[in-house]
Amino acid sequence: MHAVVLVGGFGTRLRPLTFTTPKPLLPVGNMPLLERLMTSLAHGGVTHAVLSLGFRPQPFLEVFPSNICGGVELSYAVEDRPLDTAGAIGFAAREAGIDRRGETFIVANGDVITDLDVAKLVSFHRTNNAQGTIHLTPVADPSQYGVVETSSDSRVLRFVEKPAPGETTSRDVNAGTYVLEAATLARMPGTSPLSIERMTFPEMCRDGVLYGYSTDDYWIDAGRPETYVRANIDLLSRHSIYQLTPIDALAQVDPSAHILQSIIGAGCVVGENAQIIRSVLIAGSRIDANAVVIDSAVMGRIGAFAQVTSCLIGVDGQINSGAVLRDAKVPDPATI
Ligand code: GDD
Ligand code: MG
Repeated sequence: MHAVVLVGGFGTRLRPLTFTTPKPLLPVGNMPLLERLMTSLAHGGVTHAVLSLGFRPQPFLEVFPSNICGGVELSYAVEDRPLDTAGAIGFAAREAGIDRRGETFIVANGDVITDLDVAKLVSFHRTNNAQGTIHLTPVADPSQYGVVETSSDSRVLRFVEKPAPGETTSRDVNAGTYVLEAATLARMPGTSPLSIERMTFPEMCRDGVLYGYSTDDYWIDAGRPETYVRANIDLLSRHSIYQLTPIDALAQVDPSAHILQSIIGAGCVVGENAQIIRSVLIAGSRIDANAVVIDSAVMGRIGAFAQVTSCLIGVDGQINSGAVLRDAKVPDPATI
């Protein structure tokens, strides 16, 4: 089975990390996010994935030179301008020949980590004879997602992207994995920008051909600063079928450093008495002696005795010794 994986966004919310590494290649548990996603898709029967990109695939080719990722064979569809979600799916699916072969296919948002069993989603889709089936997950605050109302027979009655307060009472949101029939490509020409969330799904609801499959499987959209860090930390505690090495063998961690619920990548250096708490140190970062890092993701350098809480520190980010920072992005993306 083929999948179209949407990875063309700019990762704006994860800047400055995404200035140097595209969001799908950021590590989650010392493995690229995309590789975790692909491993899970492969488990559900996906053999080929076309990555739908808005930029050249060079960074992906460097990380996956043989075009195999998590057991899935990769190809690339590069848009010459952002086509938004449905435009991107229409374009990439045609590039991969899915329309010609008339196959059922999977679509996945490239920033989602879930234990969903994709094979079950496909069999639910077939049982309902659906044109499209959306994986749904319940969340406490649905305002940042696509909110879905379903009937008792799982038909989607309404799809509201990022609803205003009071617009809907449903707590079930679009979890970013879909099964689609090739026939739905007629709704997604792939030649100009089109949103699946704002146009195609509402249209399919009106035609009564869209279904929702709600599960309470582990699920997170790692595309925001706090969820990116949490996706990493969650891996330490949840039972996962995927491998995890919390502290890479090529990291240098001083024996006096205090590491609590954190992930440390290859080549990171952590000095004496430093404290790393619920944080992600990305390959090559450096934490000097006695620095404290809490709830943060770091690619750059943190000076001695500095205290950093809820921050994203990019490759060029340097925190002075003794500085105290909270809720900051360094370097500040607004100034770049
Ligand atoms: N190729 C391409 N072209 N990909 C794009 C484009 C584009 O123009 N725009 C966005 N994408 C990709 C992003 O890279 C990401 O993988 C995916 O489409 C979704 O975009 P996000 O920017 O991450 O959207 P979101 O998280 O705010 O909302 C989406 O995901 C939620 C679940 O995580 C929506 O699908 C919501 O309905 C959903 O609830
Ligand atoms: Mg997202």
